[in-house]
This record gives sequence, structure tokens and C-alpha cells, in this order.
Amino acid sequence: MQTTGMANRTNCSILSAKYTPQTVLSKIVWLSDKLFSLKVTRDPDFQFVPGQFARLGLPIDTEDPLIPNEWRAYSMVSHPAENALEFFSVVVPDGKFSPKLAELAPGDTLWINKTVFGFLTLEQFPSGEDLWLISTGTGLSAYISMLREASTWQRFKRIIVLHGVRHAGELAYRDELLALQSQHGTDGGDARAERAAMVYLPVTSQEPLSLSLSPAIRPEHLSASRLTTLLTSGELEQRTRLTLDPSRSRVMLCGNPAMVTEMRGLLAERGFAAGRRGVAGNLAVENYW
Ligand SMILES: Cc1cc2nc3c(=O)[nH]c(=O)nc-3n(C[C@H](O)[C@H](O)[C@H](O)COP(=O)(O)OP(=O)(O)OC[C@H]3O[C@@H](n4cnc5c(N)ncnc54)[C@H](O)[C@@H]3O)c2cc1C
Ligand SMILES: NC(=O)c1ccc[n+]([C@@H]2O[C@H](COP(=O)([O-])OP(=O)(O)OC[C@H]3O[C@@H](n4cnc5c(N)ncnc54)[C@H](OP(=O)(O)O)[C@@H]3O)[C@@H](O)[C@H]2O)c1
Repeated sequence: MQTTGMANRTNCSILSAKYTPQTVLSKIVWLSDKLFSLKVTRDPDFQFVPGQFARLGLPIDTEDPLIPNEWRAYSMVSHPAENALEFFSVVVPDGKFSPKLAELAPGDTLWINKTVFGFLTLEQFPSGEDLWLISTGTGLSAYISMLREASTWQRFKRIIVLHGVRHAGELAYRDELLALQSQHGTDGGDARAERAAMVYLPVTSQEPLSLSLSPAIRPEHLSASRLTTLLTSGELEQRTRLTLDPSRSRVMLCGNPAMVTEMRGLLAERGFAAGRRGVAGNLAVENYW
């Protein structure tokens, strides 16, 4: 009798809570102790647009293991129509949340806030020819969801995915991106094409690239660099064989806030600006910390 009462109270508190308990279904470790993805069950009422993020919760250093007390933002990697939610995470050494998230295994509980957040979505862009999806590290997360959405490929002639990481071993989702590139081709100049072409260009900052990482890489462009350095020197456009033109390019920046700030400044000099007061922009950004 007492147990039923407790169960009822628990059910009521779950229903009235701002979050739902979900179950980890599977885990991919991209790089030991640094990068992993989780697939978790999804509440049927949890709806989102590619590019938005959730707040994930865990009980950490608390007496009640059923009440999450630490919350962090995580972009949805999965497409809105997928049954499971997918998240891609770094393990921050000494971080309070991410090492605990990394310990989760299939069957464990992860709490998810019922509200979705964020404006890094393609809706805010007017149509354009080239969509540049520029990220460092786990900033790639939001773009994978967009790339899994069919309409993204119909709105643009070319999609350029730039992923800046320290080492090649951190190029998570590379197989999926390579498959998309091979499916769509890298030559986007054909006005008759109904679907965008794609350029997937990884950039490594702490070691040289190797040609095997993507067919879009040319032998003269293997040097280690940051995305910002490449933009300043003109090599970013040489590597992609495309020009960043504010009249026809739409740019998203996501990941390391220092990268976002520097890149945003460089792009502003070239006529890129975020939308405001009802005026659509050609730049959208999201900082991860
Ligand atoms: C809108 C938004 C979306 C986000 N989406 C993701 C996501 O999809 N995947 C993800 O891993 N993180 C994401 N984050 C970051 C995430 O919320 C946490 O900060 C991260 O999990 C680390 O938590 P922590 O408690 O371990 O460390 P924190 O105390 O939160 O952070 C400590 C330090 O770790 C570094 N750091 C934090 N996050 C990252 C990161 N992602 N990559 C590299 N260094 C980092 C920073 O130097 C930060 O100051 C997002 C953040 C925001 C604001
Ligand atoms: N224990 C360690 O030895 C160690 C080492 C590295 C990172 N970490 C930790 O690991 C976590 C995740 O690191 P991460 O590598 O995924 O993310 P990150 O630090 O954001 O680095 C990802 C990429 O962004 C680049 N970058 C950083 N600042 C930039 C800027 N201002 N402009 C342009 N590009 C910039 C980096 O280049 P650069 O390589 O040139 O910075 C790297 O290529 C962090 O919490 C970090 O503190 C630990």
C-alpha cells in the first residue's frame, strides 16, 4: 500500500516536472576518453527543429539518485523524425557533467528537459546558393541533424561542411559525411541539379591532414591549421574551391566561442552579419560555452 502511494507520488512528480526520464539505448565511442555519442529514448511530445538543443540532466553528488540537479545544453544530432534522440559529446577533463554523461551505459537513465531551445536553424536564412556549416569539435552536432533533413538539400546548390579539430581521430561522423559527399557529388555548379552538392572538408590543427580523410582534400592543402587562419590567408576558399560571397553564401558558426568570435569578426569585414529586427541575415552563430 505504502509502495503504491510512493509510486503514485513519483509518477505525479514526473508528470508535473519540467523534464522526463529517458533511457540510454546505445553508445558510440569515437575517441576513448574524449568523444562519444549516445542514443536515448524520446518522449513523444519532445519536438524540435534541426539545429536546436536540449537540456540534459543528471543527479550528480546528490542524495536522491532520481532527481537530476546538474543540467547542460546539448544539440540534437538526430533528425526530428527519428524515434531515438542522439547526442554527441566531448569529455571535458575535470568537467562536472560530461565525465558522468560518458559513464552512462545502455539501460541507464538520462533526464531531458521538456522544452527545446535555440535559434541556430535554417529557417532564419533567406534562400541562398551556398550553405557553409562551420564548426569546431562537437559544434558539428547541430549540423548533422540539418544534413539528415531532406529539405536542406533542396534549398541550396552547395553545402560546405568544415570541421576543425585537433587530431584526425576526432573527426566523428566522418563516415556519414563522406557517404553524403559521395551521394551528392562535390561539383555544385550545375543549375539543373535539384539537390545540393557537398564539400566535406576536415581541418586539423595539431597534425597534418592525410588525403584519405576526404576526397575534397587536395595534396597541396595538407598542412595543420585553424579555420580562422585559413580564412585570413585565403586558403579556406582555395581548399573548398568556393568563394564566400555575402550575396549568395549563408554561414553558420558553431563550437568554440573564441573561434566563433574571431570568425565572426573576419566574416563581418566581408559583409556577413546576423539577422536582426526582422531583417534576415547571412550569418548565424552558436557558442558552446
Ligand atoms: C547551446 C549549447 C549547445 C551545446 N551542445 C553541446 C553538444 O552538442 N555537445 C557537447 O559536447 N557539448 C555541448 N555543449 C556544451 C555542454 O553544455 C557542456 O558545457 C559540456 O558538456 C561540458 O560540461 P562539463 O560540466 O563537463 O564542463 P563545463 O563546466 O560545462 O565546461 C568546462 C569547460 O570545458 C570546455 N568545454 C565545454 N564544452 C565543451 C565542448 N563541447 N567542447 C570543447 N570544450 C568544451 C570549456 O572550456 C568550458 O569552460 C553545448 C553548450 C551550449 C551552450
Ligand atoms: N588534456 C589535454 O591535453 C587537452 C588537450 C586539448 C584539449 N583539452 C580539453 O579537451 C576539451 C575539448 O577540446 P576540443 O579539442 O574538442 O575543443 P577545442 O579546444 O574547442 O578545439 C577544437 C578545435 O578548435 C580550434 N580552435 C580553438 N580556438 C580557436 C580559435 N580561437 N580560432 C579558431 N580555431 C580555434 C582548435 O585549434 P588549436 O588546436 O589550435 O587550439 C581545435 O582545432 C577542452 O575542454 C580542452 O580543455 C585537453
